[in-house]
Amino acid sequence: MKIRDINLGDKPVLLAPMEDVTDQAFRLLCKEFGASMVYSEFVSADALIRNVNRSLEKIRVDDRERPVAIQIYGRDVPSMVEAARMVESEAHPDILDINFGCPVKKVAGKGAGAGMLRTPQLMLDITREVVKAVSVPVTVKTRLGWDVPSLYDLPSNWHRTTEEKTPFILELAERLQDCGIAALTIHGRTRSQMYQGEADWTLIGEVKANPRIHIPIIGNGDICTAEQAQAAFDRYGVDAVMIGRATFGQPWLFKDVRTFLDTGLHDNTMTLDWKMEVLKRQVRTSVEYSLREDNALKERKRTELGGIIHVRRHLANCPLFKGIPDFRSTRIRILQATTQEELFALLDEAKERILRK
Ligand SMILES: Cc1cc2nc3c(=O)[nH]c(=O)nc-3n(C[C@H](O)[C@H](O)[C@H](O)COP(=O)(O)O)c2cc1C
Repeated sequence: MKIRDINLGDKPVLLAPMEDVTDQAFRLLCKEFGASMVYSEFVSADALIRNVNRSLEKIRVDDRERPVAIQIYGRDVPSMVEAARMVESEAHPDILDINFGCPVKKVAGKGAGAGMLRTPQLMLDITREVVKAVSVPVTVKTRLGWDVPSLYDLPSNWHRTTEEKTPFILELAERLQDCGIAALTIHGRTRSQMYQGEADWTLIGEVKANPRIHIPIIGNGDICTAEQAQAAFDRYGVDAVMIGRATFGQPWLFKDVRTFLDTGLHDNTMTLDWKMEVLKRQVRTSVEYSLREDNALKERKRTELGGIIHVRRHLANCPLFKGIPDFRSTRIRILQATTQEELFALLDEAKERILRK
């Protein structure tokens, strides 16, 4: 599958953009284990333009993670165009992705992210102008609609010649395509659903099956296993699948999914020792990145602790630790650790307890 001339291979599996999760250390591991493309955390266009250090840090990419997408969000055309140009010239990502799907109040409530589902004309204006402003391929990530009642509501000026009820996302996809985007990711939920209930893939499948759609459609929502990824390709015909929450604390998920999609077999080579080493490597890389000299953060913030804060949530959520009796206090100690040594000791302790389970 290709997004413009970026070849993502057969049945690509992408790492979803996730705030506070898809930092560089994590993305590199996911890439190494078979993610076909990785996405940055979303970055506020307004913050980028104001040169906020944390946002500048988020748009850094490492050549080893390519192809990599940087995602931005915002609520008006001028700031999104300026931010897009800035991302292109400073970070040189392979893809610039626009977030029209974030449901959280501080974003959607201000009209950005999924808030744009209520102002689709503005969504299209932003998309068209961003596409015109940069030469890097622009993609969009969005949801099915604002809420369930509005799944079939079209804006009054989006005239259709047929009397048939057209799903909003079907019409939106065509219009976004007309703006020149190179691919569209759809998370199978509405904004009102936030992350509740099950993702509905039927509308994603309908968008993909629409003969007028020629850009790649990336399906997203609730893929946790290799079998589910395979089923998404088989049942809904999507060009790629994107995995988010299921990767928390287990970047090696991509290794199993990739092997399964390519061979029909699971990857049984990953031992507990190996997985614990991967987690330690994630800690080391995260600290290294936090300490690097060209870090956009001010000197006093470039500390080991900076890297530890990034990584400890990943470790605390690692599925390997599920089901360990009385693990809660260890999890809290992981979340409160301030040095690599502390984290490594806690990981060793957790490993012993898994073996004793
Ligand atoms: C902690 C967290 C942070 C997220 N941050 C972003 C983000 O920055 N940009 C975005 O497009 N989606 C974001 N999402 C949504 C995911 O990319 C994805 O669409 C959603 O989790 C559904 O996929 P999943 O069921 O595989 O997790 C976030 C989700 C979570 C749980």
